[in-house]
Amino acid sequence: MFWPLFSSLSLFITGVSINREQQQQHIMSNQVSVVLVGCGAPLKSMGCTSPEMQPIIYVTSSLVDDALSLTVIVCIMHLTPCFVRCRCADLRQVPCHTVVIPAKLEIIVEPWFMSTAGTNSPGYDEFIRFKTNLEQTGVKFFATVKEVPPADEGTKRLAIISARTADNPKLFADCLKVGCHSIFLEKPGAPSLAELENMMNDAQNAGVNVFMGFNKNVSKYVAKTRQYEAKHPGVKVTYVHNNNYEDSEASLGECFERNAEGMLKNMAIHELALVVTYYAVTVDSVASVEADKEFSSCKSLKGPSGGAFTDFDKLKFAITTKEGKVISILADRCGGDDSVGIATDADGKELVRFTMPDGEDATQIENAEKRVPGAMPYFYMQDPDYSTLKQRVAKAMLDGSKPKGVATIDVAVDSLKLAEYLTPILQKQLL
Ligand SMILES: *[C@@H]1O[C@H](CO)[C@@H](O)[C@H](O)[C@H]1NC(C)=O
Repeated sequence: MFWPLFSSLSLFITGVSINREQQQQHIMSNQVSVVLVGCGAPLKSMGCTSPEMQPIIYVTSSLVDDALSLTVIVCIMHLTPCFVRCRCADLRQVPCHTVVIPAKLEIIVEPWFMSTAGTNSPGYDEFIRFKTNLEQTGVKFFATVKEVPPADEGTKRLAIISARTADNPKLFADCLKVGCHSIFLEKPGAPSLAELENMMNDAQNAGVNVFMGFNKNVSKYVAKTRQYEAKHPGVKVTYVHNNNYEDSEASLGECFERNAEGMLKNMAIHELALVVTYYAVTVDSVASVEADKEFSSCKSLKGPSGGAFTDFDKLKFAITTKEGKVISILADRCGGDDSVGIATDADGKELVRFTMPDGEDATQIENAEKRVPGAMPYFYMQDPDYSTLKQRVAKAMLDGSKPKGVATIDVAVDSLKLAEYLTPILQKQLL
């Protein structure tokens, strides 16, 4: 389904006689040059990278100039690399000509599939097909960040690191050495607070801005929940985050092992970043933490490697700050595919809930899935928000402003600090 789509694009391009030179056209002054670190397998991520870390890449006729050149653009970068035939705009349901893409993908670093160990691992063939096709459009591939040549004079370079969390510190350090102006780092950024703090300091010394992939900050349901709360002082808010794992020991054991940094760092980090941002929750401002023992569960399960991994499969807890603010977070590995903001009154009676995806999103998700079938369901749902984040970062790099709604690495440091502080407290309450 997918590859024939690309072939037909090639035919289409050949049909209008676009030659290779035009295809490999240089980056324009109104675009940042993107180095994508860790792309994984197309649509799935069966190799080294976690499925949640996949970028979406569209190949489209250039929408930024009138030339019929084939420009590979990073349009919405949170779905596995895939090709869409000049339909980027369709996906977003806006007319093609109104889309201005401020970024161009020039380089992909794929440490897993391009390593000896990764050769012939699951997803390898798809990756090679993907690589061959992209190379024809001028995108260059490298196995390591170190091999990436310096950016052209005057070009702003953005590195997007979407690898396994455990690999991030090393990849990040290498990105600082190849002349990146900004780095977009996927949550939680690093496996431990100490590593993330080092990364923050190194970036600061190198004069590199670091932005985080916290998509919920630009999600509608969070904006609506916050608006409701602002208009109804005294309501209590719970942010709910669901995943769609099968509720079995094998499935959760695999999840626990792959996301060995634990639920708070890997999953609820999004909600922790929200409470850091909007409720001034920090390790120092927390007065008390209370797990909902009836709902929550912490388990020790065997992972595929045979080792035992202890983590929460369901967790609900309330944080009370020293100022008396109460805010709750609920994360459920087997709760579904949605995220919700719920407001309750003082007695816990639900007043309102705002959900992602909502009815409005359904059409967008359906269209995206029709056009690019076979990706993880939540990729379709989250991709507009990730697109927003990345486009704002690219645009801000060009005009020298600060991207609105995008967290910097210091917010990630505070969130990770909170995760490391809360995990043992909550485990103790539940075990
Ligand atoms: C959300 O956006 C605001 C405003 O740009 C920013 O200050 C904050 O760090 C962001 N927080 C998260 C979690 O993305």
